Formats: sequence, C-alpha cells, structure tokens
Amino acid sequence: MLNSTANQLFLVFLVLIFGSSIVTATDHIVGANKGWNPGINYTLWANNHTFYVGDLISFRYQKNQYNVFEVNQTGYDNCTTEGAVGNWSSGKDFIPLNKAKRYYFICGNGQCFNGMKVSVLVHPLPTPTGSPVAHHKSNSSAAAPVVLSGGVVGLRALVVALGSIWFGYGLI
Ligand SMILES: *[C@@H]1O[C@H](CO)[C@@H](O)[C@H](O)[C@H]1NC(C)=O
Ligand SMILES: *[C@@H]1O[C@H](CO)[C@@H](O)[C@H](O)[C@H]1NC(C)=O
Ligand SMILES: *[C@@H]1O[C@H](CO)[C@@H](O)[C@H](O)[C@H]1NC(C)=O
Ligand SMILES: *[C@@H]1O[C@H](CO)[C@@H](O)[C@H](O)[C@H]1NC(C)=O
Ligand SMILES: *[C@@H]1O[C@H](CO)[C@@H](O)[C@H](O)[C@H]1NC(C)=O
Repeated sequence: MLNSTANQLFLVFLVLIFGSSIVTATDHIVGANKGWNPGINYTLWANNHTFYVGDLISFRYQKNQYNVFEVNQTGYDNCTTEGAVGNWSSGKDFIPLNKAKRYYFICGNGQCFNGMKVSVLVHPLPTPTGSPVAHHKSNSSAAAPVVLSGGVVGLRALVVALGSIWFGYGLI
C-alpha cells in the first residue's frame, strides 16, 4: 500500500519536473519506414512534420552505401558537399537540431541527384504559458532554449535511470 502510493507520488513528481521537456523532444526518422534511400521525395516527408529546436533528425540506411552531409542552400540546390558543415556515415545517424533555422542534408555519393536530399525548417520552442520561462527577463530568453534543448536528452536518461531504480526496488 505504502509502496504504491509512493510510486504514484514519484510519477507525479516526474511529470511535474520533466513533463514539458519530454513532450518537446521528437526524433524525426527521415523517410519513416522507407529510410534514407534513392527515389523518395523527401520534400513530401518534411512537409508532413513539424520540427522544433531540441528535436533530432535521424537517418537510417545501408552503411557504406550511403551517407549524410549537412550543407548550405547552395550545396542542397546543386548537390555539392563543398564547405559541408558536418558528415555522418554510421548507417544510423542521430543529428540534433539545436538551432531555429533551415537545415539542409544531402547524400554525398551522387545519389543526391536521385532525390537523397532533405531540407527542414526548425521552429523555436513554443513557450508554455504560465511556466517560469515566461517570466524570465527578455535579455536571457535567447539563451534559454539552447540550455533547455541541451538538457533534454540528459533529463530523459535521468528519468529512465531513476525510474528503473525506483521500480526495481519496488519489485523486491
Ligand atoms: C516533391 O514533391 C514536391 C511537393 O509536391 C514537389 O514540389 C517536388 O517537385 C517533388 N520533387 C520531385 C523531385 O519530384
Ligand atoms: C503523413 O503523416 C501521417 C500521420 O503521421 C501518415 O499517416 C502519412 O502517411 C504521412 N504522409 C506522408 C506522405 O508521409
Ligand atoms: C549552384 O546552382 C546555382 C543555380 O541554382 C548556380 O547559380 C550556381 O552557380 C551553382 N553553384 C555552384 C558552386 O555550382
Ligand atoms: C555555401 O558554401 C559554399 C562553400 O563554402 C559557398 O561558396 C557558398 O556561397 C555558400 N552558399 C550560401 C547560400 O551560403
Ligand atoms: C567529415 O567530417 C570530418 C570531421 O568530423 C572531417 O574531418 C572530414 O574531412 C569530413 N569529410 C568530408 C568528406 O568532408
């Protein structure tokens, strides 16, 4: 009895402390179950998603066959990787979208010309009404979303860790 009440209180505590952070971070899997492959119109995929600061975009593909380059608009339009901002090739790449801006990703081995390019517009985090964030001074608000987005993954890991410890003990 005591244990289940304690568990409920603990859950309420977690939701109150971490709830808003958990809701805001989404992993957008490029192409959904089709993944990162030639012959797919990724504009249609991107138009069907809304991206916020702190979200992840992830590319899944056959390792050694394809890759991912973050480029600027020129690179996206012309399928060139000159001056690329970053590149990934693990086959399961998770890329944090930490800024409110348009991101451009292309495949660097020629398959960009077969449609392996995607551009996503990342929106600033919506400020929850009535949350403490809304009361911050305006000169600190620019830094706030960055701090929050950096903490999201850590907080999630903490929640999972605390949760398994807590419920682990509960089962003994
Ligand atoms: C992908 O779809 C968009 C939106 O319908 C369209 O404007 C674009 O021309 C298509 N791209 C290709 C390569 O077919
Ligand atoms: C858009 O999203 C909906 C719901 O997530 C899904 O059912 C649909 O297939 C998607 N369409 C495209 C073109 O990805
Ligand atoms: C990229 O394409 C644009 C037209 O879309 C062209 O004006 C420009 O010269 C190209 N840049 C390079 C580096 O090829
Ligand atoms: C993209 O990067 C290339 C190489 O650094 C540069 O020449 C080009 O002007 C850049 N394009 C834009 C739109 O910033
Ligand atoms: C890929 O990124 C690494 C740094 O992470 C850099 O050293 C390397 O030159 C890049 N490769 C290409 C082809 O741009």
